[in-house]
Amino acid sequence: MKHGFLIGAATAAHQVEGNNTHSDYWAMERMQNTTFNEPSGDACDHYNRYAEDIALLKAAGLNAYRFSIEWARIEPEEGKFDEAEIAHYREVLRCCREHGVEPIVTMHHFTSPVWLIRKGGWESESTVVSFARYCAKLVKALGEYLHYVVTINEANMGLQVAAIAERYKRQMMAAAGANVEGTAQIGMNFNAMMQRMAAQKAEYAQIFGTPDPQYFVSARTPEGDILVMRAHEAAREAMKAIKPDLQVGLSLSLHDIQTVPGGEENAAKEWDEEFTHYLPYIKNDDFFGLQNYTRSVYGADGIQPTSAGAKLTQMDYENYPEALEHVIRRVHEALPLPIIVTENGIAVSDDTERCAFIQTALQGVENCLADGIDLRGYCYWSLMDNYEWQKGFSMTFGLIAVDRATQQRQPKPSLSLLGSFAK
Ligand code: BGC
Repeated sequence: MKHGFLIGAATAAHQVEGNNTHSDYWAMERMQNTTFNEPSGDACDHYNRYAEDIALLKAAGLNAYRFSIEWARIEPEEGKFDEAEIAHYREVLRCCREHGVEPIVTMHHFTSPVWLIRKGGWESESTVVSFARYCAKLVKALGEYLHYVVTINEANMGLQVAAIAERYKRQMMAAAGANVEGTAQIGMNFNAMMQRMAAQKAEYAQIFGTPDPQYFVSARTPEGDILVMRAHEAAREAMKAIKPDLQVGLSLSLHDIQTVPGGEENAAKEWDEEFTHYLPYIKNDDFFGLQNYTRSVYGADGIQPTSAGAKLTQMDYENYPEALEHVIRRVHEALPLPIIVTENGIAVSDDTERCAFIQTALQGVENCLADGIDLRGYCYWSLMDNYEWQKGFSMTFGLIAVDRATQQRQPKPSLSLLGSFAK
């Protein structure tokens, strides 16, 4: 890779740290009618073991680490900031800098403090101000260690969830029995969610004061979708007012959208929903965080089932590493900003399959660089096997295996393979 290109791995606080007790997810995992396979609990105990994990990343040759700061830890009650937790993240950042590892910090990665959801969450006007205030607080306290900041991870996920919920309803009405699992690039149990919705409402009302809580990946309304963009813009302005040279962007979950004849219109609509309609809100960012895992193919009647014989990942979508290059090229055509691949990865038990995936994905990155595309880095998802949301610990995306009984780390060959690209 060219000099200065970032080769990293990514995690998110809730998925690895453990004991994120003030967050909405922690509460939802414990509901009687939960749709989570298991609670996150101690997760990978990364909160205590971050130094060992960053050292493993560095030893394998990687030079960047993307992780998230947990809002529910920093501001467990509205307006009350926990200085000890800010100090914790200062240590994590320092640890990165001491190892010569570039931190790419995400301010919001799906989880929110319970109080935020009680106030209407990601459909409420007040969230714009609250989020910007939280981000400003962090930049004031930690700015000297920060360079790249992702405001919001997969800012388009709520809209994708809304579309999948719609598809589910249509299929149920048509009694087609078709399956919507595996159509989102995130671990969700859609069938269980739809079936248990009624039973969950009373529990939601108790926890969040509403039967219909608007957590980050709730099915978003069009207004809520734009509210997320305004939260991003407000946070960007607030942070840059404090540190003007901070590099700020957000990330979007993007499929490699392909067509079979007749599907052109559906595919164009999908790409607009996933990407193009956000351009006015991100065109003044410093970089774009691109997240891709697979492709989806559209026909005249909508999304097509994966073709027979295609190799699937544990997530039930197709193992298709070529998708990354296609999506980078497509984003580059529409958005003249530097791009960082903030997530790309595969959940498989066989690490040789992961190695093959990484080889192909990074060949795509090299092809784009050779064509002069301003790509700044690539972060594999994930540094370690972790808590894949509703799917629990069953998905193994990691470059490092984690023994959940002992919390022992075991680097997989794919970790050093990825590191070799940094040389
Ligand atoms: C999310 C991660 C998730 C990963 C794999 C992305 O949608 O940002 O939190 O674990 O995909 O599903």
